[in-house]
Amino acid sequence: WPFFAPLIHQINRLKKEKDAVILAHNYQTPQIYYGVADIVGDSLQLAVEATKVTQSTIVQCGVHFMAETSKILNPSKRVLIPDSRAGCSLASSITAEDVMAMRAQYPGVPVVTYVNTSAAVKAVTDVCCTSSNALDIVNRVEGDTVIMIPDQYLAQNTARKTHKKIITWAGACEVHETFTAEDIAELRAAYPSAKIIAHPECPPEVIDAVDYAGSTAGMIDWVKTQKPPRVVMVTECSMSDNVAAENPNVDFLRGCNICPHMKRINLENILWSLHTGTEEVTVDPAIIEPARMAVQRMIEMSR
Ligand code: 13P
Ligand code: SF4
Repeated sequence: WPFFAPLIHQINRLKKEKDAVILAHNYQTPQIYYGVADIVGDSLQLAVEATKVTQSTIVQCGVHFMAETSKILNPSKRVLIPDSRAGCSLASSITAEDVMAMRAQYPGVPVVTYVNTSAAVKAVTDVCCTSSNALDIVNRVEGDTVIMIPDQYLAQNTARKTHKKIITWAGACEVHETFTAEDIAELRAAYPSAKIIAHPECPPEVIDAVDYAGSTAGMIDWVKTQKPPRVVMVTECSMSDNVAAENPNVDFLRGCNICPHMKRINLENILWSLHTGTEEVTVDPAIIEPARMAVQRMIEMSR
């Protein structure tokens, strides 16, 4: 922390000078999460907050699709991402053309798209969802069948809780797809008294084996309300680091993976971004409105 202090100080001074707000995802490192972020949250919370920003600049500390979502929802703002290479294996697994081909194959079937996608994919979508509202959105769209893209595991985990038929796509999160039921069995054997909680991007056999599954914000709330003496968060590693500070009586055990995309963002490139106004995120004006409608519908349906 003392090592980070000069950078944190400069970022906080510069963000005021530049009329900027820093939005950070729960997977950002503690020095970003606690040191410089104005707003932290899961994908849904960050999307909702992006609609309310009054500053002229948003610095998105997260991955590219999150910065695009902020731009889509608040297009008059300048949206910066400290490293535009911060991608996502889900977002890169599907294109707008793929979605149009699915629509042609299943005419009239509504398309529910995880926010972990490009603006172009959102633009050919009926309604978006996040991991915190996926079941609700699927239940609320019209019809008995839903196309749910691109995360096959989020779709399979949702399919187990709804009566609707779900057509999936073969995308996966590179961080969560590698967790296995054997990993959970090993964790249970190693830490018999610990609770184990996971993100719904994990395969269904992992979700079956854990004590709770939910979005990053859902997991944080679960720990705060259940106050387990020991817990393993089966998700990205910074989650435990961030939650641990606010839950000193909970023992956080390791069982996590690092998201290399989230970890592209650091204090140095946040400072650079504020200084230089780079890298600015733009969205094609032709797709911004249909993409916004898909995200806005989600926000309205999850109220
Ligand atoms: P949340 O919406 O749960 O924060 O998830 C975003 C994400 O990228 C998880 O891998
Ligand atoms: Fe994408 Fe997975 Fe990283 Fe989340 S954790 S940003 S879903 S690759």
